[in-house]
Amino acid sequence: MIDQAEDLRKMMKEMSGNEAVKGYGGHRKTRVITVSSGKGGVGKTNLAINLGIAYAQLGKRVVVMDADLGLANVNVCLGIIPKYNLFHLIKKQKTMKDIIIDTKYGIQIVAGASGFSKIANLSDAERDIFISELDTLSYADILIIDTGAGVGQNVLSFVVASDEVIIVTTPEPTAITDAYGIIKIIATEVNNPALELKLIVNRATSVIEGRKVAERVINIANQFLNVKVDNLGIIYEDIIIPQSVRKQMPFIINDPKAKASQCVKHIVSRLEGVEFKEGGGLKNFLAKMMGTK
Ligand SMILES: Nc1ncnc2c1ncn2[C@@H]1O[C@H](COP(=O)(O)OP(=O)(O)OP(=O)(O)O)[C@@H](O)[C@H]1O
Ligand SMILES: [Mg+2]
Repeated sequence: MIDQAEDLRKMMKEMSGNEAVKGYGGHRKTRVITVSSGKGGVGKTNLAINLGIAYAQLGKRVVVMDADLGLANVNVCLGIIPKYNLFHLIKKQKTMKDIIIDTKYGIQIVAGASGFSKIANLSDAERDIFISELDTLSYADILIIDTGAGVGQNVLSFVVASDEVIIVTTPEPTAITDAYGIIKIIATEVNNPALELKLIVNRATSVIEGRKVAERVINIANQFLNVKVDNLGIIYEDIIIPQSVRKQMPFIINDPKAKASQCVKHIVSRLEGVEFKEGGGLKNFLAKMMGTK
């Protein structure tokens, strides 16, 4: 499994190997962020999309790829009915350029393929097609990969190829246990020393609750696995999210001032080390509000 994933990683490295495509500060041009969780339904897809839009609002070129090949739903959350998706790409019927979709929110998406089995079940030839087509995305500053829950081979392949993995949990005990479970699997099965693990506590009802959950996961990972996990903060439980899902609209667009939207902007500013132009003093305020200060 990891051999296959290694190919992906090599390809990602090649995306950066060319001086012409290197971005600012000599860093690799495309920053690959995979969003994962142990338990399903914790908010990965909503995070991936809204994080992508927040990045786009900072002027970044962003592609959000729906790598949940079982139950694709990035496009559903955006109210988009794609003509083609990853299935057509892997089956060599279409290229990445054909399947990538512009949205009115400043991000591009690559739709997943509902009902399709895992990437790791692809034949070598199919996987090679996928890998070489990924190269077409090297113009992007940020590639956010939304995965299905859990630790299928598909998910591990993306994880090994990423710069960062954001693990999403909620304060529910089952989600916390499963978050630890996926961190353990990543720590033991993924050979990528440069990989950064980050944690978001979604659906927190208070900063204190979110911080407690984060500390628990981070401390246990540190103690038992000797793995460093960074706390990216919380996203509040917020009615704007289910409301926006029903409207098939990203919540950060539906209500940019909503608590959840502010949280996502804060998370991007933490990831990027830059400030959103929200007015003086707000960064500190947000940092405190999100429990990251
Ligand atoms: N912060 C939040 N506040 C309130 N509701 C939320 C929040 N985050 C997510 N939800 C709700 O949880 C549901 C599941 O979210 P989402 O589809 O993003 O999860 P997922 O982790 O991608 O699920 P899957 O594992 O099935 O891919 C959404 O329909 C949304 O209404
Ligand atoms: Mg999802």
